[in-house]
Amino acid sequence: MNAAPASAPPDDPQIAGPITRETTADAAAVDALVIAAFGPGRFAKTAERLRERAPRAAGFCLHEDGRLIGSVRLWSILTGEARSVFLGPIAVDQASRSTGLGGELVRACIEEARALGLDGILLVGDPPYFSRFGFVPAPDAVLPGPVDQRRVMWLPFTEAAPVGAVRPAV
Ligand SMILES: CC(C)(COP(=O)(O)OP(=O)(O)OC[C@H]1O[C@@H](n2cnc3c(N)ncnc32)[C@H](O)[C@@H]1OP(=O)(O)O)[C@@H](O)C(=O)NCCC(=O)NCCS
Repeated sequence: MNAAPASAPPDDPQIAGPITRETTADAAAVDALVIAAFGPGRFAKTAERLRERAPRAAGFCLHEDGRLIGSVRLWSILTGEARSVFLGPIAVDQASRSTGLGGELVRACIEEARALGLDGILLVGDPPYFSRFGFVPAPDAVLPGPVDQRRVMWLPFTEAAPVGAVRPAV
């Protein structure tokens, strides 16, 4: 599947649809998709605490036949001195997984963060999935709460190192 820009029309009938920017009309469907993917327990996570306090930088959605089948959000943060965004949650509807849609959403985030001129992207996620996009371990990024440090990952755009407290960029 091609990594289409966020605004490009689909050129392959098998592609579920173009990535769109999340609007307020998507919010309820995004919440439902994320809860279905992660379960209600996610609200206890340190990542969620950070998202509650950080400004949202962007959100991207994928629809099929008018139904939301994928979403991801970006939050404005500082990682030490590095200007960055925190990626997540990312979710694809179970029936639509393993067709490249998650990758399309991650690439939309990378394009957006690069366009914003940031130093990198931080996330807490599964290294086997995110390493394929160039994310590397960030052992010195300090999240505001308990976290499995092996899952804290960074995609660098500049030389700025992800070292220090992770906090909302307000
Ligand atoms: C993670 C997720 C967004 C990926 O969406 P997707 O559309 O299936 O992603 P892609 O099609 O780009 O990639 C699928 C590949 O990634 C692999 N993959 C998916 N999740 C993975 C994970 N957590 N760890 C390792 N590999 C994973 C799949 O096995 C598949 O491998 P294959 O290509 O060899 O079959 C989706 O599986 C999902 O919503 N999961 C539940 C929510 C979640 O756990 N999100 C955060 C992940 S840390």
